[in-house]
Amino acid sequence: MATIQLRTQIPGPKSSALSRRRAAAVPRGLSQATPIYVAKAEGAVLEDVDGNRYLDFAGGIGCLNTGHRAPGVLSAIRKQLDKFLHVCVQVTGYESYVRLAERLNQLTPGNFPKKTLFVNSGAEAVENAVKIARAATGRPGIIAFEDAFHGRTMLALSLTSKTHPYKAGFQPFPGEVYRIPYAYCYRCSYSLKYPSCDLYCARHLEDTFKRVVAHEAVAAVIAEPVLGEGGFVTPPQDFFRTLIEICRKYGVLFIADEVQSGFGRTGALFASERYGIEPDLIVTAKSIGGGLPLAAITGRRELMDAPGPGGLGGTFAGNPVACEAALAVLDMFEQEDLNARATALGARFQKRARAWQIRWPMIGDVRGLGAMQAIELVQSQDKREPAPEETSQITQSCYEHGLITISAGSYGNVIRLLMPLTISDAQLDEGLDVLEDALKAAHERKHEASAQPV
Ligand SMILES: Cc1ncc(COP(=O)(O)O)c(C=O)c1O
Repeated sequence: MATIQLRTQIPGPKSSALSRRRAAAVPRGLSQATPIYVAKAEGAVLEDVDGNRYLDFAGGIGCLNTGHRAPGVLSAIRKQLDKFLHVCVQVTGYESYVRLAERLNQLTPGNFPKKTLFVNSGAEAVENAVKIARAATGRPGIIAFEDAFHGRTMLALSLTSKTHPYKAGFQPFPGEVYRIPYAYCYRCSYSLKYPSCDLYCARHLEDTFKRVVAHEAVAAVIAEPVLGEGGFVTPPQDFFRTLIEICRKYGVLFIADEVQSGFGRTGALFASERYGIEPDLIVTAKSIGGGLPLAAITGRRELMDAPGPGGLGGTFAGNPVACEAALAVLDMFEQEDLNARATALGARFQKRARAWQIRWPMIGDVRGLGAMQAIELVQSQDKREPAPEETSQITQSCYEHGLITISAGSYGNVIRLLMPLTISDAQLDEGLDVLEDALKAAHERKHEASAQPV
């Protein structure tokens, strides 16, 4: 039986009424991809306040790799609810914080002693990784990439690349942030082609130390192993290894921001593993908490211990309910082999998307790692001009037909897949049928428009 069930026009009357109340009560700066208000959720399914059922390919922007209300996560949360909700780890400790740190120290790539700090959000974790890198090296500079997204707090925003809507109007940003091109091969900043480029973009880091900022002033390079908001850009296999070699040569640390690529999305717990790299510091958030707010910085012991006592922390950071939820998420990954599931889901999507790309010239690129998959939409495959309007028409048509999808990319022309890894094959296929219909309709509209006599 189909999962998607639409009982009203979308959005339904109750969702529409809530949208009106929201418009009056909440600032417009908080965007909302769909005007739908959720009543309940389970696995990969959302039900709205009008009784309509949707497939969820957004997962709260990549926070629900284990699915909505995963039974193991719920039971861990319930047990903790009966004990205590908050004490603040800086006042009195609790075992789950320590146990979760121990497990992350074990599970993150790198066979060296590590420590982990917990905070509340991805942006807060990024900020703390920078604090730790600066304290450990005594250097101020951070090198970030074009098309990167590291969050919305001021330092994180300074590291984030996209101007509209994220950065414009919020200057001045904290300084000592330098930016270099990412390995976005589909839109190479140097107009080169992999592999004949010989990874010019990675090797260019050495040039940056000569022409932009002295290496002795740089604490760290921060990169997402697969770009999240930047459009699921997946660099060539040897990109990060080359980058890290240069970092090591100059005593510069490498921070992997795995907030979106982490926690099983790419077919390994961390995308860094897929690239065979061992970052000095790894930032995780989103799906680590199974739906609760939690983020972590895991890194080499000596770096993590660089800030003195009291230099790190936060009132709610590493909340006990969220720590228990995260431990249950880790159990689920072990027991249900969700990493293998991510790989299988990605392959199932790729097969279909490659066929779409042959049929419809609007699909410029199909890319991804594991279940972190996306399509980039263009006006034409040869010129590659971004197609942001068509992209938003397609995501709009998807939700009107019961599939929640979100876009990404510096040009707003990427449709990304962030469905729970617990989704069934039948549900994935049902969602992809909706996406396929929306792509077909967009192609036909474009074709008709170009066939119109002037
Ligand atoms: C790679 C990456 N880093 C950092 C962040 C910021 O995380 P948060 O929204 O939890 O602050 C995000 C959020 O999308 C992200 O994708």
